[in-house]
Amino acid sequence: MKIAIMGAMPEEVAPILEKLGNYTTTEYAGNKYYEANYKGVDVVVAYSKIGKVFSTLTATTMIEHFGCEKLLFSGVAGAVNPELKVGDLVVATKLSQHDLDISAFGHPYGYVPEGSVYVEADPELINISKGVAQSLGKSVREGIIATGDQFVANEDRKNWIGETFNADALEMEGGSVAVVCNALNVPFFILRAISDAADMDASFSFDEFLETSAIESAEFVMKMLDEI
Ligand code: ADE
Repeated sequence: MKIAIMGAMPEEVAPILEKLGNYTTTEYAGNKYYEANYKGVDVVVAYSKIGKVFSTLTATTMIEHFGCEKLLFSGVAGAVNPELKVGDLVVATKLSQHDLDISAFGHPYGYVPEGSVYVEADPELINISKGVAQSLGKSVREGIIATGDQFVANEDRKNWIGETFNADALEMEGGSVAVVCNALNVPFFILRAISDAADMDASFSFDEFLETSAIESAEFVMKMLDEI
């Protein structure tokens, strides 16, 4: 079993590489891929760069070129649900693309013909995360994640995303990674730690908490490897 572990930014993947210790580095399609055996599990780690296009490329490469059979994503997100605070962990039950819009033709937001508004994450991996949360004594919220090629720092936009997609958190890669994994029949799991509230202070909060929230998420995902 070979497992892909991906993030979008160097800060999201650095704590994972730190835990790996020894790894080999391969350059492919403009990115670096780090391969290692971690406690008996073959892993391929990479950060994609920000956004749906780069994350699509990286997820596809990890599966099609490196032969990964499951994919775990670790990173940070903006909170939509007001109950979520900086540092809280959110496991995606399903994901959507909030900026995918052909509503001019009468379609729902996030929908294109032959696609679907939501893509569901793997229930087995979600189940494993429940056990890990319990063993770590951490509370982890399951919720809907909305993805788009925008850093949301606007209360109106955030609220629209919350109302339209029933989203709990938003970010810029999960929805595209979900589409790739779903199409290629690869079970996937998306974990995010909150870095900001997607409001007018979001960029400051993001800069302040990116590193610590990324570590929260990465440590949790690495614990999941023991159970897969
Ligand atoms: N990732 C973390 N915070 C975010 C925000 N406010 N908008 C988009 N992606 C994010």
